[in-house]
Amino acid sequence: MPANDVVHLTAGGVSLLLDCRDRALPAVVHWGAALGPLDHDELVAIADGDVAPVAPNEVDVPVRLAILPEPHRGWTGRPGLSGHRDGRDWSPAFTVTELEVTAATVVAGAADETAGLAVRLTVEMLTSGLVRTRAAVTNTAPGTYVVDDLTVALPIPSRAREILDFAGRWGKERTPQRRELVVGTHEREGRKGRTGADAATVLSVGTPGFGFARGEVWGVHTAWSGNHRHAAERLATGRQTIGGGELLLPGEVRLGTGETYEGPWVYGAYGDGLDDQARRFHRWLRSRPQHPRSPRPTTLNVWEAVYFDHDLARLTDLAERAARIGIERYVLDDGWFRHRRDDHAGLGDWYVDEDVWPDGLGPIVDRVRALGMEFGLWFEPEMVNEDSDLARAHPEWIMQADGRLPVRSRHQQVLNLAIPEAFAHVLDRMSAIIGEYGIEYVKWDHNRDLVEAGHPGGGAAVHEQTLAAYRLMATLKERFPALEIESCSSGGARVDLGVIEHTDRVWVSDDIDPLERQQMHRWTQQLLPPELLGSHVASGRNHTTGRVHDLAFRAGTAIVGHLGVEWDLARATPAEESELAEWIASYRQWRALLHGGDLVRIDEVDDTRLVYGTVAPDRRQALFFFVSTGRSEVSGTGRMTFRDLDPEASYRVDPVVIGDGHGVVAPAWWSGDRVFRGRVLETVGLQPPLLPADAVVPFRVTAV
Ligand code: DGJ
Repeated sequence: MPANDVVHLTAGGVSLLLDCRDRALPAVVHWGAALGPLDHDELVAIADGDVAPVAPNEVDVPVRLAILPEPHRGWTGRPGLSGHRDGRDWSPAFTVTELEVTAATVVAGAADETAGLAVRLTVEMLTSGLVRTRAAVTNTAPGTYVVDDLTVALPIPSRAREILDFAGRWGKERTPQRRELVVGTHEREGRKGRTGADAATVLSVGTPGFGFARGEVWGVHTAWSGNHRHAAERLATGRQTIGGGELLLPGEVRLGTGETYEGPWVYGAYGDGLDDQARRFHRWLRSRPQHPRSPRPTTLNVWEAVYFDHDLARLTDLAERAARIGIERYVLDDGWFRHRRDDHAGLGDWYVDEDVWPDGLGPIVDRVRALGMEFGLWFEPEMVNEDSDLARAHPEWIMQADGRLPVRSRHQQVLNLAIPEAFAHVLDRMSAIIGEYGIEYVKWDHNRDLVEAGHPGGGAAVHEQTLAAYRLMATLKERFPALEIESCSSGGARVDLGVIEHTDRVWVSDDIDPLERQQMHRWTQQLLPPELLGSHVASGRNHTTGRVHDLAFRAGTAIVGHLGVEWDLARATPAEESELAEWIASYRQWRALLHGGDLVRIDEVDDTRLVYGTVAPDRRQALFFFVSTGRSEVSGTGRMTFRDLDPEASYRVDPVVIGDGHGVVAPAWWSGDRVFRGRVLETVGLQPPLLPADAVVPFRVTAV
C-alpha cells in the first residue's frame, strides 16, 4: 500500500477510512459499518467523494478536518492543539514527515518548523472493531511551549443526532441521559482529579431513537483517571465530531525544548445498537493479556458488616461463615492500620494498628487461608489525613495551591505522589505489608476529589498525580505478579479504561441496593464486561437507601457481575444462609458463561421491567434475566423475548427459582416441555412470570 495515501483499516465489522494524502494529518473519511474489500482506486474515489462544495461566506477551500483538527485549514470548531510559546506559535500548520502504516495502525509524524512543534498521531483499529487514537506534541524549539489542550476528534455522519452519555453522583453512578445534538458543543468536563461518579464514561451520538438492538451509534471514551473531557460538537456547516482528551489545568504542561506531552488514548466505539457497541469494548478488553482469566472468585468484603469495628473474634467468625457458603476470597476493608478508628485519622500510616491487631494480621490471614480462601486488604494509597504520623512528618507532601491547604473532603487530603520520596514511601509500606502477609488482592480506594491539587508552592499537578498513581499500581504488580487490584473510589468514581490497564475489577458503587444496581450494572456494562464489576449481596435493609429487599432479588441482581457478599453473615438466618449458598453455587457454575458471553439487553417499552442476558459465543447456551423493578399500570406487561440466539436451534428454557419462590407466579408453559426455536424466542417470546414489585428470575437457555 502506498504510504502517503488513503488507508483502509478494518476489523470486527467496522471500517475506518483515513485520508493521509498530501502530507496532511490523517482525516477520517468513513468510520462505521465495514466496507468489505476495496481496491485502491475505489478508496481514492470514496475520499474524493467526501469533499463538499464550498458554501457561501465560508473559507474559499473545502475545510479539511483531521483527527487533530487544525484552524489553519479553516476549521472553526474546537482545535486539536491549543497552546503557545509566550503568546506565539499558537496556530501551528503541520506537515506530515513520516507515515507508518500497518494492517491495523497508522502513525503520522508531523512538524511545523516555524512554530517549533512536532506531533505524532497514532490511530489503531483493534480486533473487536474498536478504534483508538492518541496524540503527542513535542517542543522542538528554544523556549517553553505551554500546552493548554490536546484533544482528538472523530467525525460522525449527519444522521447521528441523538446524544447518550452518563451522569451520576455518589451512590448512583452511570445514570444515562439523552438529548438532541444541536448546533454548539455538548461538553462534559471532569475536573475532579479522578474519573468521577458523574463522568460521561461513554459519550455516544446515534441515529434518533437508537436502542440496544438497533440504530447506528458512535461513541468515545477517554481512557484517563484524572481531569478529562468528552465532547460532541455540531457546527453551522453541518460537520459533527465527537472527541476527548485530558483536561489540563492552567500551566500544568509546560514543555522545555525536546520535551513531549502525550494525551491519553481516546477510544471510538461504533455499533449497530448499544449492545454491539458495548461488545466491542468487552471483546477487546477480554483479548488483552492482563485481562483476569481465572474464574472470578466469590468474595466476602467485611465493610458493611463491621465498618471500623475490627475485632479478631468477630472477623474470624465471619470468615468461617463465608467459607461455609462457598466464598473464595476474604477482603479486610478500611480500619486495620494505625490510628484509623474512624474516618478522621490515620490515612497514610500504613502499619498494622498495634492496639486493634496486637499480633498483627497474621491470625486472621492464617485462618482465612486455612479455610481455603485468598486474602485481600484495603488501602487508600493516594490519600492522607492531617491527623496522621505521615502528615505530621511531611506536611509538604500534601497537595495544595499557593501554600494553602485545600478544603478537606471526608476529612482527608491528597498525598502528592509526584514527589519521589512520597511515592517511594507509599510503595515501600504497601510492599512491606503485601509481602509480609502474601496479600493476593488490594482494594484500592480513593475517596475524594482533587481540589487545588498542586505542588507545594508550585503548579497544578493532577496530570502528574494521575501518572504516579498508575505507576504505583504498575510497580506493585511487577513486584507481586499475582496481585489483583480493585479500583474503588467512593464506590464507582474511578471507572475508566486508563485505570483498567492496571486493575482487575471496579467497585461499581457504594450503593448495593439491588434496585439501583440493576440500572448501574446495565449501564456500566456499556464500557466494562461483567467480570470486572464488583457486585455484592448486602443486608436485607440497604445501608444507603434504607429499602428492604428479599435475598432472591439481592442475589439474583449481584450474580451477573463479579459476585461478592457484603453482609454481616452472623445476622443471616439459617434459611438465608443456605439460600445464599445456593446462589453462590449457581454463580460458580455459571460464571464461565456469565463472564465470557455476549451482552444482550432487550429494548423494553414498559419501564417497570428489564430483560437482559448473556449468550455464549457458540450460541449453545445463554442465561437471561427477567426483572421487575416496579408495578406497571397493567397487570400483564407482555411476552419477554430473548435475542441473539441461533435462530434455527431449539432451546430448552428453564426458570431458576432459588429459595421459597418469593412470590413468583409461574405461567403455564413452565410445566410444559419448554423447548422453543431461537427464532421464536426472539420474535414471539414467552409470557413472563408474575413477580412482586422488585424481583428477578433467571432463565437457563440451553440448545438441545
Ligand atoms: C469507600 C468505599 O467505596 C467503601 O466500599 C469502603 O471501602 C470505604 N470507602 C472505606 O472507607
